[in-house]
Amino acid sequence: MEQAGWVPSSIDLDRPSAARMYDYFLGGSHNFAVDREAARSVERIYPGMSGAARANRSFLRRAVRYLLEQGVEQFLDLGSGIPTVGNVHEIAQQAAPSARVVYVDVEPVAVAHSTALLADNPLATAIQADVRDPDAVLGHDEVRRLLDPDRPIGLLMVALLHFVPDSDRPHEVVARYRDALPPGSYLAISHGSLEGVPEDALDDSERVQAIYRRTDSPLALRPRDEIAAFFAGLTVVEPGVVSLPEWRPDSDDAYISAYVGVGRKP
Ligand SMILES: C[S@@+](CC[C@H](N)C(=O)[O-])C[C@H]1O[C@@H](n2cnc3c(N)ncnc32)[C@H](O)[C@@H]1O
Repeated sequence: MEQAGWVPSSIDLDRPSAARMYDYFLGGSHNFAVDREAARSVERIYPGMSGAARANRSFLRRAVRYLLEQGVEQFLDLGSGIPTVGNVHEIAQQAAPSARVVYVDVEPVAVAHSTALLADNPLATAIQADVRDPDAVLGHDEVRRLLDPDRPIGLLMVALLHFVPDSDRPHEVVARYRDALPPGSYLAISHGSLEGVPEDALDDSERVQAIYRRTDSPLALRPRDEIAAFFAGLTVVEPGVVSLPEWRPDSDDAYISAYVGVGRKP
């Protein structure tokens, strides 16, 4: 057994977790044998997975910096994952020491590790909640305590929504969050897609999706127009909803078949 002190008792050690596989792809150590096995199966099909995960983190960093430049100093990071290099509160509080961050994840290891990391940080916290229940997230005591509803909020849904299946009505879920945001707030999204994946790589994509179907979070990859629809009612900032490496690039990131965008609530 590899039950280190940080392992919450509630987790199922027989089932891979998308959150902990992502931690593995990023070189983290908060994953178990079952996660590593699934992650290595993905890597055998798609050796670029670690580079893709890093490219996604790079988008997160660029988006948070952009929001800070727009004066946003409070963030609600949905599906925040297991802490790694360049966490939102680190980027935000380096630029604005009074910046506030609430991390939200459903996965117990992500929440336990985030909570431990933030123990001495009065302006950032992590809560365990399912983002498909916006009332539970938005009404959570910690969200109400830390985020000022009268000031703009940076709502982050980075590599999250492709884990919300159509049957859970993701566009309605996102609309609930958009409606609750104060004017001047921003929504940042990255989302996996099969659009742009070459024909001869589609079989590999299907095999990767089959691995994720065995995890706690099957993939719901979407075309660009469905991803763009998450920004309904917002003003999408330049360069629009684009392929991830094309969004305000500041380094040479690996290719990743994902679309991203940032929208501002008028
Ligand atoms: C690929 S990770 C992304 C982490 C981080 N946002 C990033 O981009 O680096 C996806 C995260 O979404 C979380 N997640 C998936 N479905 C969720 C749900 N319904 N509610 C809350 N979190 C969820 C997973 O547990 C995982 O930590």
